[in-house]
Amino acid sequence: MSQKKIFLVLVAITTVSFLLHHGGHLSWTIEVFRLGCPSIRSPFSPDSSPRHKHTSVVFLKTHKTASSTVQNMLFRFAEHYNLTVALPVTACDHQFCYPRLFSSHFVHPHTMPPDIITNHLRFSHSEVRRLMPNDTVYITILREPGAMFESLFSYYNQYCQSFKRVPNGSLEAFLDQPWSYYRPEEKDSMYARNTLTFDLGGDKDRAAADAAMYAKRFAAEVERTFSLVMIAEHFDESLVLLRRLLSWDLEDVLYVKLNMRTPSSKSSLSEELTAKIRAWNAIDAVLYDHFNASLWRQLNALGLACVGREVQLLRRARDQLVRGCFGGRLPQLRSAAQITNKDLRPWQPSSKVAIVGYDLPANISRKGSGLPQDMCLKLIMPEVQYTRLLLRSESLRYRNRFQFRTSQQTLKQSGQHRETSALSSTQRPSGMLGRTTRGTLRLTQRSLN
Ligand SMILES: *[C@@H]1O[C@H](CO)[C@@H](O)[C@H](O)[C@H]1NC(C)=O
Ligand SMILES: *[C@@H]1O[C@H](CO)[C@@H](O)[C@H](O)[C@H]1NC(C)=O
Ligand SMILES: *[C@@H]1O[C@H](CO)[C@@H](O)[C@H](O)[C@H]1NC(C)=O
Ligand SMILES: *[C@@H]1O[C@H](CO)[C@@H](O)[C@H](O)[C@H]1NC(C)=O
Ligand SMILES: *[C@@H]1O[C@H](CO)[C@@H](O)[C@H](O)[C@H]1NC(C)=O
Repeated sequence: MSQKKIFLVLVAITTVSFLLHHGGHLSWTIEVFRLGCPSIRSPFSPDSSPRHKHTSVVFLKTHKTASSTVQNMLFRFAEHYNLTVALPVTACDHQFCYPRLFSSHFVHPHTMPPDIITNHLRFSHSEVRRLMPNDTVYITILREPGAMFESLFSYYNQYCQSFKRVPNGSLEAFLDQPWSYYRPEEKDSMYARNTLTFDLGGDKDRAAADAAMYAKRFAAEVERTFSLVMIAEHFDESLVLLRRLLSWDLEDVLYVKLNMRTPSSKSSLSEELTAKIRAWNAIDAVLYDHFNASLWRQLNALGLACVGREVQLLRRARDQLVRGCFGGRLPQLRSAAQITNKDLRPWQPSSKVAIVGYDLPANISRKGSGLPQDMCLKLIMPEVQYTRLLLRSESLRYRNRFQFRTSQQTLKQSGQHRETSALSSTQRPSGMLGRTTRGTLRLTQRSLN
């Protein structure tokens, strides 16, 4: 009996000392095991092969929801694994011709067929499905309607007609009589009511009598399409679920918050104002409550201790990255005008709201952290510049691939037809790739000039 106990103690001591001598993965795995996390791959994988990581992703980028941060993460992931990100044709700007309903014609032919879609678009499942493999994972993000509307109101104050009409730019005045300022048919009206619903492809102006029923139905529809609806207020917890859903490593979901306002242009809302915002954006409010509840059901199912542990690991890894990149702490937040590197200047919706970004310290490359400067730069690069940069590199890759095929084709004298169909991948529609070889080549040259 006591011998058995001694034996057990010895085993325990041996195990502990074994673990102490094996840092990293093993100890983490054990910790997770102890916390009762369901078995998953270790958050830091030594084998960073993308083979087991899920790479077909549609992230519906919603407005004013921390979605730029997720987009930046997906851009970096795509670059790291040479994946193709669908990017808008020039005429669509850096969004897919938002607020028009998404169409596959908005996708630049050099970025087809895509692995990832993440630039702003108004969601149409049928159109997106035409472009993407059928094992694609759909993700989006929502934000609490009060904070979100306040943010929209301030961000689009000088941009959206419904807000420009309001005397003194007063949120209170707008909410007292929204119908005196809001015109549902105006082209920017989607920023002024049920913006999340609109972005998801829904009807932002459903009549009040029917709105509650509609919102429920719509939430169910969104739930059928999207495997994960992240919640901005619980961003890191949402990332824990995202990482598991996609079988990604912790490194793949590290981020720096992008596209924020200066603290002084934010205001806190009274309960009364929040209630008015929820009433005005009733469909969004139903969506938010539905998916916040569903997020927490999933987190509970995973085990809150396990989630908390991973969130802590994530934050520690992020701090380490920020230290490595920017030497100590984040580069100082600056207003756009003060940012000297124009690749890092965020877009400004109006002169009244200060969107802040980061500027790189001039001596970043001399920090000796071993982290490549390019990676640090990308971590804080705003979406417009990053989109432009990706289009350039994907076009280049497309042209190289294309020229390779063309020279092969000339050698083989095998005619255009077979090569064209080889280019346009089997099960995915190829849009403009389906044109004659010569037509495609002209297009390539024009857009690279
Ligand atoms: C991505 O492509 C580059 C250049 O073609 C290559 O050197 C690199 O190994 C590729 N990376 C991955 C992860 O496939
Ligand atoms: C995708 O769809 C095709 C045709 O509907 C089907 O044959 C194929 O098995 C599907 N692939 C996956 C991964 O579901
Ligand atoms: C707008 O602000 C001015 C000065 O702050 C004030 O006199 C005026 O009454 C305000 N107008 C409305 C409609 O609130
Ligand atoms: C989301 O739901 C959880 C669990 O019910 C709750 O604790 C939390 O406050 C909610 N978050 C927000 C921002 O309402
Ligand atoms: C980098 O530059 C900043 C200001 O220009 C300076 O305060 C800091 O000490 C420098 N860091 C290194 C490691 O040279």
